Amino acid sequence: MPIKSKTPLLILLLTTLLCGAAAWAQPTADQETQNTAARAVSLLSFVAVDYPEAVSDDGMRDRNLYRQLQGNVEVAASLLQKLPEKPGRKQLQRTLQDLAAEIENRAPPAQVRQRANAAADRLAALYQLPRSPAEPLPSAQEARALYQDRCRHCHGENGDAPQAERKLTDPERMANLSLYDFYNVLEPTRNDAHNSDIDGDLSSRERWALAVMVAGFAAPEIAPSVRRAQEFPALVGLPGMAVLRPVELPDEARDALMWWRAHPQETAHLQHPLARAAGLLYLGQTAYRSGDSASAYHHLMLGLREGYAQARPQLAERNPALTAQLDQQWETLRQSILDRAPSNEIIEQFQRLQANVVRAREQLQPTSGSAIYVWAALFFVIALGVGGLLWYRLRRPRGKTGTS
Ligand code: HEC
Repeated sequence: MPIKSKTPLLILLLTTLLCGAAAWAQPTADQETQNTAARAVSLLSFVAVDYPEAVSDDGMRDRNLYRQLQGNVEVAASLLQKLPEKPGRKQLQRTLQDLAAEIENRAPPAQVRQRANAAADRLAALYQLPRSPAEPLPSAQEARALYQDRCRHCHGENGDAPQAERKLTDPERMANLSLYDFYNVLEPTRNDAHNSDIDGDLSSRERWALAVMVAGFAAPEIAPSVRRAQEFPALVGLPGMAVLRPVELPDEARDALMWWRAHPQETAHLQHPLARAAGLLYLGQTAYRSGDSASAYHHLMLGLREGYAQARPQLAERNPALTAQLDQQWETLRQSILDRAPSNEIIEQFQRLQANVVRAREQLQPTSGSAIYVWAALFFVIALGVGGLLWYRLRRPRGKTGTS
């Protein structure tokens, strides 16, 4: 059965995932919790990236790096121990034990990469880390002078300094890292690659701009065709561009993301208005959960004005009932935030609205099998990683779905 005909089922499952995530959510996370969690996420992401350099399918390649990665997992586990107790933390602790055991047994690189990245994603979701900027991504151009000043003497003019052990131009390595991973490298409280005199005083916007610039060193030269943006709507907007690791996507989506995330200013016009609305709702919800209801309100209204409103006339023709429902959901949520309704109600309203926006998007422009896969990948990352079975099924290459 082709994936396409499963679309309604998938959307239902995704909705369930999203609503499931609400139950795990706590409305506030203070800065210290966020920094501790982000540090653990960064350690785990680099276990995923570095492990193939330590252990290949044929055996040990670099014993020192191997020990360091074992240490990374230990530190991540002790950071998790310090974080507030939540439903889901025990399971994550077991995942980290499994990861440590796999490394101990020198499991194949692909297996360790997947486990480490899955653990990083769960941790981020469990502690509501905002892994995407609240505003549109800045262009690389914004970081150019800063890069010349602060980074070039170690990493080289174009990221390929001959003396550097790891080149920022290596597409294979860079495809393992999300923009958010680059961002974390530039945050001394989260990553030890640099001394704080290199990047300790940067603003969040400067870090995102540098992350975009770094992504450009390994990006393909040629822009993906516009058609790709319709096929993979989650890749031309936030949070997708910031959160997803290209390596986890189908080939054609991987190359497209490698290019788009390096040229975010070229993506705004490629985004379907409802995809933009879904992304803004996600950002609003994340802001709300971290205790910032002003910014949640701002994103909600932006999603309404710059997303939903543009697609509404077309949707009203296609499906008046869904349009009426969406109109009402938007208004109810707006009012709930203004009235400071209980947080579980507000989160639930966010989830329902978001699920309906995704539904509306599908009605206006049914997506292909691999596009629904990318949506699913994104929402999976967001919604914690419950539903491993769904993930497994979605991960299978398109050609083989006939047997699932
Ligand atoms: C003093 C030299 C130095 C400076 C200056 C420096 N870096 Fe680095 N950077 C490093 C080293 C060393 C690593 C660790 C790489 C490794 O593990 O081999 C690193 C790692 C990185 C990584 C992760 C790469 C990977 O593949 O793991 C990124 C991204 C990065 N730096 C970006 C920057 C940016 C942007 C700046 C400027 C704000 C900067 N660096 C300034 C030395 C430097």
